[in-house]
This record gives sequence, structure tokens and C-alpha cells, in this order.
Amino acid sequence: MKMVLAVVGSPRRNGNTHMLVSRIAEGAKSEGAAVDELFLGDYRIGECDGCHNCWKVGRCSKGDDMGDIYPRIVASDAIIFGTPVYWYGPTGLMKMFVDRFVYFNCPANRKKIRNKKAVIAVPFEETDPATARLVEEFFRRSLSYLEMELVGGIIAPGVGQKGQILERTECLDRAYALGKQLV
Ligand SMILES: Cc1cc2nc3c(=O)[nH]c(=O)nc-3n(C[C@H](O)[C@H](O)[C@H](O)COP(=O)(O)O)c2cc1C
Repeated sequence: MKMVLAVVGSPRRNGNTHMLVSRIAEGAKSEGAAVDELFLGDYRIGECDGCHNCWKVGRCSKGDDMGDIYPRIVASDAIIFGTPVYWYGPTGLMKMFVDRFVYFNCPANRKKIRNKKAVIAVPFEETDPATARLVEEFFRRSLSYLEMELVGGIIAPGVGQKGQILERTECLDRAYALGKQLV
């Protein structure tokens, strides 16, 4: 059975990102996948110190919740990265999380992430799709660097209020289809 890690990078529970990520996860489940939801706001995830302890001894020195999260990443076949646009970038929660992927940037750990599939889910208030350009580029380049496969994404402009994504049925339908495609 395929395992999908559904990462919610908005602090707003049941907000637009959470709903979009859940819809992708439902699509994946419909194809028989198991889903592990990771709501980043529930965890203590500190910044990467760049100490490279993970490269030297295979373990992060921070002693925060990433110690339990790394095995969940490794156990997944695919990852959904969901973040709203915050000042044209990802949320701080998502950036801190992805910064900690330095753990996978050494030969011993790279094989734990290589070839995993990924999709992104990015809602935001402005109506210009270019608002998400830096976020898309952040994921495209970072995941490519890590030798992961970015198979697609849902970019959802024009959703500012909590739950507004529910009015965007075409976005939710595309999210469901993307989840099916992911597994
Ligand atoms: C700190 C902060 C920064 C934001 N920056 C932007 C922005 O630069 N462009 C934009 O279109 N929306 C911006 N927004 C709006 C959110 O992207 C929008 O409300 C989104 O739907 C929130 O998703 P959520 O419900 O999953 O939290 C910002 C919101 C916050 C709280």
C-alpha cells in the first residue's frame, strides 16, 4: 500500500490549505493509499542550524519534534506540500520544515528521499496567479535538488477568507484528480 504524507503548512486549521491538502489526500485514498496527515502547527519544528550533525552521525542535533517526523517522511512514497502564500513566499512553518530537509542532502540519507513523488497546494488571496511564482519556484528547485519528482500542483488564486476554497469546486475537483494521479 502506498503511503502519502499530507503536510499542512498553514497555521489555520480547516483553512483553505488544509481543505485543499485533504482533498488531494482523498483522491489518493480512493486509489488505495494510506494517508498520514502532518499539521505542522501542532509540532515544535526549529530552524536548521547548519551544524550538519545529521550528515556526520545520521541524526539531527535539535532534539525537537523533527526526530519523530523524519521517519514519517522516510516511510512515505509521496508527499503533499500545502502552504498558503505569505508575503509571496511559503509560511514560516513550511520554510522551517523544508529547511530541515538538509538532513537528506548527504549521500547516506539521500536515498531515503530520492524518487519520492510530490505535489504542492498553494491558495492565496490575490487574483494574479503570478503571486505564487516564488513559492512554485521554491518547491520546484528544492525538490529537484533533492531528486524528488514534483508531479503537479494546485495553485488557487482569489481565496482569502477561511473556507473560501469550498466555493471553488473546480479547484477541489482538480485536487482530487491530482491525488489519484499521485499514487
Ligand atoms: C501573514 C500573511 C501573509 C499573507 N500574504 C499574502 C500575499 O502575499 N499574497 C496573497 O495573495 N495573500 C496573502 N495572504 C493571504 C493568504 O494567502 C490567504 O488568506 C490564504 O487563503 C490563507 O490560507 P489558509 O486558510 O490555509 O491559512 C497572507 C496572509 C497572511 C496571514
